Amino acid sequence: MTGPSPSLSRTMGNDHARLDEAWERIRGTERAELRREWFEAYRADLVYHVEIEEREMFPRLAAAGPADALLVGRLREEHREILEVLDRIGAAIDGPIDRLGVLDVELVTLLWAHNAREETTAYPRWDELAGPDEAARIRSALDRSSSPE
Ligand SMILES: [Fe+2]
Ligand SMILES: [Fe+2]
Repeated sequence: MTGPSPSLSRTMGNDHARLDEAWERIRGTERAELRREWFEAYRADLVYHVEIEEREMFPRLAAAGPADALLVGRLREEHREILEVLDRIGAAIDGPIDRLGVLDVELVTLLWAHNAREETTAYPRWDELAGPDEAARIRSALDRSSSPE
């Protein structure tokens, strides 16, 4: 390994940015056949990101104290809401793009609040609690999810 490894906050924050860009590309394309293909890849990556958080990060965070447990409960609820909107988008993605309008706003609004909450509270807290070995383990799990550019 060369140089210090980035914090998990940085790694996960970068993944949020990568996913946001993927969604922008999907809603920006005029080509319906690409929209479905890109959406399925985006959905798989976002679901994987959520799974990593829920499986690898949240249990440790929730065990740290009542305030942390409360935060994790809130984040888990937001995950359910995000995945539910993704399902509705999946059902509408082959239709006219303007039909996505409300769902697009719902998704972006949910993600904006959720990602900000994670980046300013949960991730820094997790960095405080976990050691570099745990961070490296999560980083390599996340690396495997990234679709080739
Ligand atoms: Fe999350
Ligand atoms: Fe996240």
